[in-house]
Amino acid sequence: MGVAIMPSVYIKTYGCQMNERDSEAVAAQLAAKGYTLAPSEAAADVILLNTCSVRDMAEQKAIGKMQNIAAEVRKHRPSVVLGFMGCMAQSRGQQLLDQLPEVSLVVGTQKFHRTAEYLDEIFQGKRKKIVDVGTEAGSEAAIKEHLPLSQKPIAPVTAFVSIMQGCNQYCTFCIVPFTRGEERSRTIPDILEECRQLAQNGAKEITLLGQIVTSYGKRDIPLREGRSAFVQLLEAVHELEGLERIRFTSPHPKGYGDDLVEAYRRLPKLCQSAHLPVQSGSDRILKAMHRGYTRQRYLDIIKKLRQAQPGMGVTTDIIVGFPGETEEDFCQTLSLVREVEFDNAYIFKYSPRHDTPAAVMAGQVPQPVKEERNARLLTEINAIGRAHYDQRVGQTVQILVEGPSKKNPSRLTGRTRCNKIVVFEGSDRHHGQLLDLKITRAGSFTLYGDPAILNLA
Ligand code: 5AD
Repeated sequence: MGVAIMPSVYIKTYGCQMNERDSEAVAAQLAAKGYTLAPSEAAADVILLNTCSVRDMAEQKAIGKMQNIAAEVRKHRPSVVLGFMGCMAQSRGQQLLDQLPEVSLVVGTQKFHRTAEYLDEIFQGKRKKIVDVGTEAGSEAAIKEHLPLSQKPIAPVTAFVSIMQGCNQYCTFCIVPFTRGEERSRTIPDILEECRQLAQNGAKEITLLGQIVTSYGKRDIPLREGRSAFVQLLEAVHELEGLERIRFTSPHPKGYGDDLVEAYRRLPKLCQSAHLPVQSGSDRILKAMHRGYTRQRYLDIIKKLRQAQPGMGVTTDIIVGFPGETEEDFCQTLSLVREVEFDNAYIFKYSPRHDTPAAVMAGQVPQPVKEERNARLLTEINAIGRAHYDQRVGQTVQILVEGPSKKNPSRLTGRTRCNKIVVFEGSDRHHGQLLDLKITRAGSFTLYGDPAILNLA
């Protein structure tokens, strides 16, 4: 009997780092089952879009892409299997099949690990169309596979580990509790085992991922000496040999207790950076968003973090044009941005999401007002960022060398402990090293440097 050639799969990912991580786990699971990974959609037997629902634009982009694939790729190769995975798959389910008849697979956020099994069924002709957007106990622990080193162009020095799924915060603008479900956490030993393996394979930096990592293990792991489950996890990961740096994203300000602030003092591997979404600088809007903190409480956290680590890099997410946001509310956001002096901020124009309370609130803000606030805030953020980056020129910073720069592969890139990207002229021998660089120039949210001292350790 001849050996069947296994189909090749191409996965395109939209959205956040959690989605990137989910895609990699699915790719690794498929590869383990014998599927090959296609370098592009043009060469693939299966094309999967891993989707984002956080704003309508993200959904429209993925739907447009699928329509395009259906029209272009399918025209020449009618047997190509098309599928949606992830957040939009979860929120739209069967509706996607009705809207796009060329699609045969819809896999929700608790079913990523079943993708290979469902593709097998489709290829074996057992089923033509599969939609699975159900809940599944234990699915939070199903995202743990990483592609083997043999499948990677270079051995990765940074790795992402999914520690939890879901969110119970129910911010009034946010679709995530509906697409990702209830908060569910993996166990500490399970996470440690994955981290240990990654470190053994050469990872020096690990980023712990979840929709609301500060809620990690809240229900299952009791406080120990006043320390939350999340801080206990950080301590455990910190013990791992070979690891040099730890990061996490995204935390919620509500969960940023003193134990976590203290962790930055106690745990030298914990990098001096925090992505702490503030969403608005107005107490009235924060309340309407159901954020669970005030402007003052947020400012206090930032102050404490900077007391613990003066060089702390702080970035945030901000929504402009939330229902009812007045010019005065928006000015509160502008003033908060000036007060905190964020290193960078991601600005989002409020996008109504179905089933969320804010979508039907009075006072929806007209699009031109959203655009205008977005532009004003962006100007402010860029100016503050510029000043931050310019200040770094002449300083010596430690970076972890991650690989070739995307824009110019003849250069190398890495990130400082404060999470700033640095590009420099280097060679292969720098790969994976912790390197001291002298900053020679600042670009737009990028630093340029020269190796100052070679760390030969
Ligand atoms: N509209 C606009 N931005 C949103 N975000 C979440 N939901 C919405 C929405 N409905 C933003 C928040 C969050 C980031 C990931 O996306 O700022 O922190």
